[in-house]
Amino acid sequence: MTADKNPKVITTPDAAKPRASTSSDEGLVKKKKYYGWRKNASVRSVFYKGKTINFPLCDTAMQSTVYRMLRLIEKTDKDDLIGIDVKWLDAEINDLHDVRECLYRCNVVASLYKFERRRETSNPKRFGEWGKRNCNHTVAKRIVNFASDCAVPCPDVLNNHYESFSSETYGETNFNQMKLICDELKCDKNTVFVDLGSGIGKLVCYMAAYARCKKSVGIELSDVPAKYANNVGQYFKSLMAFFGKRCGKFELHQGNILDEKFYHLITEEATVIFINNVQFDEKLNFDIKHLLQYCKPGTKIVTTKALGDVNQRPLTRRTCGDFDALSVTRRMKSVANNVSWTGREVPFWCTTMDQKRVIAFFKKLRR
Ligand SMILES: C[S@@+](CC[C@H](N)C(=O)[O-])C[C@H]1O[C@@H](n2cnc3c(N)ncnc32)[C@H](O)[C@@H]1O
Repeated sequence: MTADKNPKVITTPDAAKPRASTSSDEGLVKKKKYYGWRKNASVRSVFYKGKTINFPLCDTAMQSTVYRMLRLIEKTDKDDLIGIDVKWLDAEINDLHDVRECLYRCNVVASLYKFERRRETSNPKRFGEWGKRNCNHTVAKRIVNFASDCAVPCPDVLNNHYESFSSETYGETNFNQMKLICDELKCDKNTVFVDLGSGIGKLVCYMAAYARCKKSVGIELSDVPAKYANNVGQYFKSLMAFFGKRCGKFELHQGNILDEKFYHLITEEATVIFINNVQFDEKLNFDIKHLLQYCKPGTKIVTTKALGDVNQRPLTRRTCGDFDALSVTRRMKSVANNVSWTGREVPFWCTTMDQKRVIAFFKKLRR
């Protein structure tokens, strides 16, 4: 899926097609006749350039996300200008009736607030970082987490779906580690970021929000994470529009990294490639290295399993064809608890494609 530049009416993926009914749905079904309610609910935005968002309120995970969003708005509104009453949010929520009633009140005050301030051009003073058009790390992280909470109500599905210790084992890199990588590599609007094995696409969305990359692309092989990635992408797009945030272009694809259709993207377009390859099998890592040798000079490749040797040895006739002859590998800075599958600090490596050494070696041979 590809992000539109300026979506106007935002409909989250499940809004039109509610999830299968849950126990909390049953209350709704009974009352639906009486109150005549729809399952979808809109949340009006109070942010500059913010757009209304539609949520399906058919399960508790979704209700809790909407609540956390309203709480966030109530908390950032220090001078109580919008007028969301904390009592509405603290009230006991028994069923969808309560959720919808609370939302209705919040939407009324939000509409009034937005109307009164319709001539304002931005609102950073009122909402701090949330009022700015660009996302800082915390805001980007919160928005991507909201999106994944909506799209993946039960994250255990991801961990249990695939065999452990295989290339398709699921695991996530945390956003603090990603921020460190992004800052160290100075990712910005000129960067084309590609996550090879992107899972549910959280890093791709984070890079679109935090670094506002020219393009962030994710490629994921497995059905389950790829399906969720599509939903994460749509919720993310809607949430960014709700908070009135600027965002880089992003794409989430299902497919094999080694597929020919991604060759141009990986070797010609990408400036920063990310591969969480520590669980990939030997053959896949070998094939990936074979593909990466064709990347243009200067491409940075971040991995959890080093692609080359950090100690560079002089080139010989025997080693001049190795991946090490075409690249330089170094260890990157890392933070504690940087991945989801272990409490230990996992090292991250950066390989920069640099074919100058091998060219110089062959020139020397010819002389
Ligand atoms: C450990 S997860 C990493 C998720 C994400 N990049 C992160 O670090 O948060 C690795 C992902 O690579 C995917 N994968 C494995 N082999 C692949 C292939 N040949 N092509 C595309 N994706 C692949 C797996 O299905 C898995 O979801």
